[in-house]
Amino acid sequence: MDQLLSQLPDRIAEQVMTIAKQNEQRFNEYSDLIGNAGYKASEPNIINDAIVALSLGKNVLLKGPTGAGKTRLAELLSSIFNQPMHSINCSVDLDAEALLGSKTLTYDDNSKAHITFISGPVEKAMKQGHILYIDEINTAKAETLPILNGVLDYRRMVLNPFTGETVKAKEGFNVIAAINEGYVGTTPLNEALKNRFVVIEVPYLQGEELKEMLKEQSLLKDEALLNQFVALSADLISKVKDGQISEEGASTRSLLDACDLSVYIGPQRAIKRGIIDKLEDDREKAAVETIAETIFGR
Ligand SMILES: Nc1ncnc2c1ncn2[C@@H]1O[C@H](COP(=O)(O)OP(=O)(O)OP(=O)(O)O)[C@@H](O)[C@H]1O
Ligand SMILES: [Mg+2]
Repeated sequence: MDQLLSQLPDRIAEQVMTIAKQNEQRFNEYSDLIGNAGYKASEPNIINDAIVALSLGKNVLLKGPTGAGKTRLAELLSSIFNQPMHSINCSVDLDAEALLGSKTLTYDDNSKAHITFISGPVEKAMKQGHILYIDEINTAKAETLPILNGVLDYRRMVLNPFTGETVKAKEGFNVIAAINEGYVGTTPLNEALKNRFVVIEVPYLQGEELKEMLKEQSLLKDEALLNQFVALSADLISKVKDGQISEEGASTRSLLDACDLSVYIGPQRAIKRGIIDKLEDDREKAAVETIAETIFGR
């Protein structure tokens, strides 16, 4: 953390420390919603620039392939600012209620029914000055997201149609969104929406950094095998870039699965279970199998 702060411009570092300290006192009861700090950056500017943007009150859009660590980075940012994070997982089913909240029946001690409004993640984060994390924002239906336009621009407010209340964001409210561009089943993000964000690209970790991360997060500690998995990852990423295998094939998430399994069932079978059999296409499966054979031997 200190090392991170020392790389920031002085004014920003001071501001981050002040915010983190204030939040520590304010958010004790929300400590469960404060993220985990395990993100490792493939280049230092990623974390630096995300912190600068959030300290300036900008919305941050993390853009990168599946399993590149976008959610992990959002968690790191939450932990740096000591700021609880409320998450929304977007999908085509996402509606205004999932964002803002919904009415439900509650019963008092005399079994009398009352209609109560339960706040959704957007309203909770705004009212409490927390972080709103919008995952896979480009998978939501085009009609749903314009509700957020006012939340995401200088107005920082939204009219809740279910309560008639105009919700204004408390100071400190921040938005981080993640997008998996190019992923099957997603559409490019609407321009008006994209326009409201500062974009930070989150590429896959590679080389020494990847090895460090695998060592920290997987059960595998064998140096030679770790080096082989790092080589496998580099080959998979280049095959994805060539369009020979789909993006999931290079996901760090799958790589972690394979590393964990390899401790008990050997690397070849681990790669089959962790990576190959998640792919649909037989040609893609064969391509990964060939790479694995070349690196790990038969
Ligand atoms: N740069 C990184 N630093 C630390 N951990 C990472 C990194 N990249 C990937 N991981 C690990 O890989 C897994 C996937 O990361 P994460 O869930 O953050 O990816 P993501 O980009 O949010 O993926 P998706 O787009 O599928 O949601 C996690 O277990 C995470 O700990
Ligand atoms: Mg994610």
